[in-house]
Amino acid sequence: MILGVDYYPEHWPVHMLEEDLDRIVKLGANTIRIGEFAWHLMEKEEGTYTFDYFDHVIDEAKKRGLNVIFGTPTATFPAWVAKNYPEVVAMNQSGVRHAFGGRRIYCYNAPEYKRLTRNIVTALLAHYKDEAGIIAWQIDNELGHEGSDQCYCPVCHREFQAYLKSKYGQIGELNQRYGTIFWGQTYNDFDEIPLPTETITTHNPSLLLDWARFRSQSINQYATLQIDIVNHYKQPHQKVIHNLFGGFFDRAYDQNVLAEQLDVVAYDNYPVWGGLEKPLSPSHIALTLDYIRGLKCENFWIVEELMGAQGHTVIGYLPRPNQAKLWSHQAMARGCEALLYFRWRGMTRGAEQFCQGILDADNLENDKYREVESFFKEVAAEESLYMTPIKAEVALLYDYDNRWSWAAQPQSHAFDYTGEFVRLHAGFHRLNVMTDVIDQKKDFSHYKIVVLPVMQIVDEPLLDRLQAFVAAGGTVVFGFRSGIKNRDNNIRLSENILNDFCGLKVVSYESLGIGQQIGIKGVGGDEATARVWRDLIRPLTAETLYAYTDAFFDQYAAITVNTVGTGKVYYVGAGIDENLAVMLARKWCEEKHIAQIASPEGVEVVHRAGRKIICNHNGHQVAYEGYTVEPYETVII
Ligand code: GAL
Repeated sequence: MILGVDYYPEHWPVHMLEEDLDRIVKLGANTIRIGEFAWHLMEKEEGTYTFDYFDHVIDEAKKRGLNVIFGTPTATFPAWVAKNYPEVVAMNQSGVRHAFGGRRIYCYNAPEYKRLTRNIVTALLAHYKDEAGIIAWQIDNELGHEGSDQCYCPVCHREFQAYLKSKYGQIGELNQRYGTIFWGQTYNDFDEIPLPTETITTHNPSLLLDWARFRSQSINQYATLQIDIVNHYKQPHQKVIHNLFGGFFDRAYDQNVLAEQLDVVAYDNYPVWGGLEKPLSPSHIALTLDYIRGLKCENFWIVEELMGAQGHTVIGYLPRPNQAKLWSHQAMARGCEALLYFRWRGMTRGAEQFCQGILDADNLENDKYREVESFFKEVAAEESLYMTPIKAEVALLYDYDNRWSWAAQPQSHAFDYTGEFVRLHAGFHRLNVMTDVIDQKKDFSHYKIVVLPVMQIVDEPLLDRLQAFVAAGGTVVFGFRSGIKNRDNNIRLSENILNDFCGLKVVSYESLGIGQQIGIKGVGGDEATARVWRDLIRPLTAETLYAYTDAFFDQYAAITVNTVGTGKVYYVGAGIDENLAVMLARKWCEEKHIAQIASPEGVEVVHRAGRKIICNHNGHQVAYEGYTVEPYETVII
């Protein structure tokens, strides 16, 4: 099992290398990840490549039996690149290039950056082509993160216009599909199409969706450039990986396209970061892990796992004793099979002085060190358990077009795309029912329940597949706003294509603002609340399960079910509260005979290979099946 630390030997005096490596081994690690920000050390001047520094690091690592994950260094480029090729630096919406100084500031489409990338990556791979100590090549670092998915430079503008031309062929086709007749925006030629930078009111939603697709394609094509070089040189035992960041739904970047090209998906797991006063909820963390696993529908690696408080300028929550270790266990339980901590020692200089590592500046063994040491021992003893595949009977389906469609028009100040996934995922998480979170393009026919939160873009092929799924006895759950748009990000001049399938008509809708809450009532009399949005539903063949309670709208349903043969189609037309989400998940699972595991509040149980992994997310002790589980402890039974 790959267990390790992110190590940046270049940050420290040369004489510390050997002692650091000895101590990393003593900690129980077998792998170090190096190199991903060290371009200048490898190419001090353009075309002069030296790898002596890393030759030495790798030799010393190998002497101690440590394997190496090597990162291509393109996430930060040397200052000479900015000086000699200022046009490779990405531009913000005002047409101003980023200043050299931060990171991830390059433009994915800049021809010179692609050339420089090709050169350094080729030199690096060629140099280490026979180096067996390298077990994986990580390309770049967190592509698209920190706003680096966007660039508004003239190259991107031209490429965007070319992208649209190749997609639509004729400008008339684009005008028709975008509906540029509105506000008299009709284009005579592709060269008139603007970048969607700041304007008064808002840009055309179809244009915004195409822009997101183009940004995503730009990142993925840049990644492919590097992956092709790695694949050309890499040895059979070496994997090509990339470390994805959290908050993926917030970027114009579809990681599914990248995942297809990777041997293994890797993730950087930071349940708390920056100014957050509290960590993400356990179910939210679980959702992100389910998403990462869903990219290849395989187990994954974590190459950066938090160990301590983090933040560049503002620091938030300090993980409580054993809490970071608990998050590591949770990640293993949900499909991680190799884990490296960020990082061996916190840096004393530069922008990340407040991102804690395992060791602090005093360089002494501390509680974090002991957490890591014990974690490595505990998971190494369970290697066979963690190598088993994870099977889920429930899938949540997302779609990046749909996500970007919402980004163009969130429709409510309270709307949060990820939040709508958390909402419908939380019920299953509370019942300890495993879920996959996957792109709707993937085959979902083998699940028992598929949930589509806020899938406002639904096209005919997806509807066909959902109909076949239900015809075979499956349960489909739609969230609010489902099916209102086509793939051009426009409303159809017809009935919603889901009406027959769901057996209803959404007569009207109301956007609920931040803090606004409405009441809903079950046919059995139970009361619940909803936020963010409500669809006012008139059931046709569907049955009402919950209706609104307020005057004028109490004749409309909020939640319905349509029975189609042996299958069922649920429609959840409002942002329901967590209690109701749990009740509904319980009902859906019971109907489909999916096993649930009861557990105390805050206790996550993963059933896997005949074992139970029990993660206590509470800051207090709990009793579970005759075991006493300490605060933030994980027990495997
Ligand atoms: C990650 C990043 C690392 C480091 C870390 C700090 O997102 O990949 O390089 O910046 O955050 O917490």
